[in-house]
Amino acid sequence: MPLESAQALGTTSGERRDTLTITDNRTGKTYEIPITDDSIRAIDLRQIKVNPDDFGLLSYDPAYLNTASCRSAITYIDGDRGILVHRGYSIEQLCEHSTYLEVAYLLIHGHLPTRTQLDQWVHEITYHTFVHENIKKFMEGFRYDAHPMGMLMASVAALSTFYPESKRIDDPWQNHISAVRLIAKMPTLAAFAYRHAVGLPYVYPNNDLSYPANFLSMMFKIGDAPYEPDPRLVRALDVLLILHADHEQNASTSAVRSVGSTHVDPFSAIAAGIGALYGPLHGGANEQVLQMLNRIGKVENIPAFLQGVKERRELLMGFGHRVYKNYDPRARIIRKYVDDVLAVTGMNPKLEIAVELERQALADEYFVSRKLFPNVDFYSGIIYEALKIPTDMMTVIFAIARTAGWIAQWLEMINDPEQKISRPRQIYTGPLNLTYVPLDQRG
Ligand code: SDX
Repeated sequence: MPLESAQALGTTSGERRDTLTITDNRTGKTYEIPITDDSIRAIDLRQIKVNPDDFGLLSYDPAYLNTASCRSAITYIDGDRGILVHRGYSIEQLCEHSTYLEVAYLLIHGHLPTRTQLDQWVHEITYHTFVHENIKKFMEGFRYDAHPMGMLMASVAALSTFYPESKRIDDPWQNHISAVRLIAKMPTLAAFAYRHAVGLPYVYPNNDLSYPANFLSMMFKIGDAPYEPDPRLVRALDVLLILHADHEQNASTSAVRSVGSTHVDPFSAIAAGIGALYGPLHGGANEQVLQMLNRIGKVENIPAFLQGVKERRELLMGFGHRVYKNYDPRARIIRKYVDDVLAVTGMNPKLEIAVELERQALADEYFVSRKLFPNVDFYSGIIYEALKIPTDMMTVIFAIARTAGWIAQWLEMINDPEQKISRPRQIYTGPLNLTYVPLDQRG
């Protein structure tokens, strides 16, 4: 809506208008862009042109530092105040009162379940934990030292071939059963990947156990001896799953939304999310934190390590966040559970290094000025290690937990009338109008 001047908009009346008035100094034209939810629609910039046949203005935002890709009601984060809310409930309340499967229900259905709804949900997931026997043959094709995240990504993608009907994403029942299958089978696939790596026979799901206890059983049960994990450790794992369940438009969720926007089946979309989470800057950070603490080795080495970070020779893994510029509320909760877990399993020397590393970093201007605080990955690895979870399985557990969030976000995306296939534009910087040179004439 190009205007000759702002006066045409009744600015003399002084009423507040939720609009942005933009003057293009190349032409002197003024444009009125509506503001809703403290944002403007990037497509409204396209009307700003010099010549009528111009493409119009684009917004350029590498890594989407300041771009909202969707409207979502699932998770709210206030990065400056360190607040995390799922469907209106604070992460602190959910960790204190809820279970991972109940939080999964909340994320996907948008409300806390009634007792009947929860019982039905838990029953469905419990009775879908088995995977097709062919998956075992598929797993055996991996080398003994294959990273379990690579095995998980491949296995989840393979599941799409066992459930071809899941392509019918316009069918609410298909989407429901795909959600149940993904949440139910992720721990089984994860445990199978671990058992393959250590050369142990697979342990089938035990439907008498809770979701977290069943995962520990499939990971660690040996022979016919009953496997009865300490309930305090089971609760700590359940809380870790809650803490990792969803986190609005993080890199892996954005991958699931983007791949899902092509209307591929949800198994393939979630496999793309696993690939994104695998990266050391994202879900792979918890594995990197443990390796970092091992490298530091003892408290006396912390100052030299931090100097290396300040000289940009490495990153302080488990610190920093694109959104949180305050303490990640999840890290605060995990820190509390570390003491509970170590009271059962015994002290871990890495905790002493981690606590001192955090203290020194939070007292150092370099980190304070960059608003670098511990994130969800800084202490989680210490709990996983206390649970005897090997380092390369830690991101796998992150993937198990995030499956509920990925599904909730995928469902919200396919049901959002504003969404369509994800296809960003670009600013072309390459050459044009070159003439093809035959091979024998090239220098
Ligand atoms: C997760 O997005 C999500 O929600 C993710 C997640 C989820 O639940 O899905 O929360 C899970 O991915 C948590 C993050 C796990 N990753 C790590 O712990 C890896 C270490 N952290 C960094 O790589 C980094 O902090 C990121 C990737 C998390 C964020 O990267 P950004 O947004 O590029 O960081 P920034 O722009 O805020 O950095 C500001 C400054 C920069 O320095 P200058 O160039 O301005 O001098 O801080 C520096 C960065 O170089 N910096 C770090 C640092 N993180 C940022 N310096 C040292 N160590 C770090 N960890």
